[in-house]
This record gives sequence, C-alpha cells and structure tokens, in this order.
Amino acid sequence: MSKKYNIAVVGATGAVGQMMIQILLERKFPVKKLDLLASKNSEGKKINISGNNFKVKSLDNFDFQETDIALFSAGAAISKKYASHATKNNAVVIDNTSFFRYEKNVPLIVPEVNGKEISCYKETGIIANPNCSTIQMLVAIKPIHDVCKIKRINVCTYQAVSGSGNLAIEELKDQINAYTQNKNIESKIYPKQIAFNVIPQIDKFMDNGYTKEEMKMVWETKKILDDAIEVNPTTVRVPVFYGHSEAVHLELEEKISANKVKEILMDKNSGVILVDEHKDGGYPCAANECEDSNEVFVGRVREDISIQNGINMWVVSNNIRKGAAYNSIQIAELLIKDYL
Ligand code: A2P
Repeated sequence: MSKKYNIAVVGATGAVGQMMIQILLERKFPVKKLDLLASKNSEGKKINISGNNFKVKSLDNFDFQETDIALFSAGAAISKKYASHATKNNAVVIDNTSFFRYEKNVPLIVPEVNGKEISCYKETGIIANPNCSTIQMLVAIKPIHDVCKIKRINVCTYQAVSGSGNLAIEELKDQINAYTQNKNIESKIYPKQIAFNVIPQIDKFMDNGYTKEEMKMVWETKKILDDAIEVNPTTVRVPVFYGHSEAVHLELEEKISANKVKEILMDKNSGVILVDEHKDGGYPCAANECEDSNEVFVGRVREDISIQNGINMWVVSNNIRKGAAYNSIQIAELLIKDYL
C-alpha cells in the first residue's frame, strides 16, 4: 500500500486554508490524518468542504509531533510564532505567508519554474510559497526566458479581493449591496472603497515609495527565476472576487516575434494555457477562465511597438488556487515524491 501522510492546515477557516483542503481532496492527496487548525475562536467549529465535514482545532495547544506536513496560511505573525514549533517536531512546513520567503536557506518554490531547488529545505524544514502575483507571472514567462533571456519586466496587476482573505470578500459584497441600496459605504479592510473602484495600493508602503506587494514581485522574481531580471511593478486592487490579471511587458535581450512566443506557450509542457484570438472576447478573463481552475492563462501576446525587443501579454490565474493553495499542494506533492 502506498504511504499516507498526516497533514495539518494552519488557517483552515480562511480563504486559502479552505482551498488547500479542497485541493487535497480534488487531487486525492494521500492523507492519513487531516488536522484543521485556526484561532481559539474557531475551536470546535465545523466546516464543510465538497460534502465532507471537518472539525476545527485550536492552533494554540496543537502538538505537531505526528504531523508530516504543516501547511501554514494564517498570516506572517502566526508563521513567525508557530512554524519553528512545527519543524522542531519534525514536520515540514510549507508556508504561504511572506515571513520566510527572503531567507537565504529557505527555498521559494514555483514547481514549474524552480521545483528542483526544493531539495535544500532540509536545512530549515521550511519551504516558502511565493506571492500570488509573482507565481502566475513567473509561470507565464519562464518558458520565454528559457528561449530568449528577459532583461526587464514592466508589470501592472489587477488583483482580486480574495487575496486579502475572507473578510475582504465580505467587504466587497457589503459595499456592492450598500451602493445599490443607496446606503453608507463602510471600509474596514481597504483604505478606500473597493466596490466600483480601483485602489493603487496592496500591502504597506516601503521607504522607496513602492508598496510591499510591488517589492515582493521584484525580490521574488530575482530569487526564483533570475537575479539579473529587473522588475518595475505597479500592483492594484480591483473589485473582482477571484483571479488576478496582469499586463506584463517584457524587454528581451534579442528580438523575438509574437508568433514565436505563442508557439513557445502553446507547448504542452509550458504550464500555460494560451487563449489568444484577435476577436471580441478572444482573451482570458478572471471571472470566465479561472473561477475553478489551477492553470495560468495567457492572451493578448503582441510585439511592443515602442521598443526594440519587447513583448506584451495578459496573464490571468486564480489567486487562491495557483497563486496560493494549489502551488502549496504541488510543493507537497514534490516533497512526498522525492523526500518523505
Ligand atoms: P479564525 O477563522 O479562527 O480567525 P483569511 O486569510 O481568510 O482572513 O483567514 C485567516 C486564517 O488565519 C483563518 O483561518 C484564521 O482563523 C487564521 N488565524 C488568524 N489568527 C489566528 C491565530 N491567532 N491562530 C491560529 N489561526 C489564526
């Protein structure tokens, strides 16, 4: 009989945590015991995923001694406080927060891009899951970078509210209702109204005037794909529930045609689904293509008419799936295939 594993999901009541459970079920991950952990407030709460009922335990007094893999998605402060507790008990931590991402001896993994680097997890027992916007961009551009080196990326993102968790999803719903009923709009999660609006701030401001979300795209592209690539990002929150969209503008070392890029992306091993027809609707959109999918979709591939070696494209993916939960489960699948 094939081996089965004890899995703990930390942040199991959250948007990403619930999706992790769903994807473990969808992919028939060999689970022996599943522990669902959240704050004390959720202790004993029942959650139903795909017709299965689960009871939530409190992280506070959970003993990781029997856990093989702990999937953390309860925020950086929780990872800071509890991840080492899990690794000391020999669990491997796959951390979806930004807390460990930039530590030298913690691998930061997008399986389609740098899956092989997972091997150095043994030093710390921790593997970091990258930022959602970075993951989908890197899956889309890696096959191009393999053929023709990318020098610089100019990227603008259009990011869904689910990236800020369940309370943000509720905030958008409440604001839409308030707006249509002519009531006062209250903002608790976002600094400005998100319904029928576009907010050019994700995460906190840094000293250089960029936001932390923007700098994550810079730091993580360098760590995961190539330190030589320069990234110029603007990250924006939009009133979409699920699915991040990105306008990606690449500057390459040599001239490459849009047709050649499409050919590269059409390769079945590219990890990308190309939706690119020059007709109304011939491109991927968050609410259409990526509601229930784990894939990265690319469209609007064209040559940049303003510079020598430029390619523009539109990249869309489900931020909760490929941008978070699915990528973490892919990492877990690599782990059990080769290491556990
Ligand atoms: P809880 O529901 O008990 O607050 P989201 O990203 O959707 O906002 O979800 C955040 C997740 O992190 C939730 O599962 C939440 O659990 C969990 N969480 C927040 N604070 C803690 C804590 N102190 N200990 C454990 N889990 C926590």
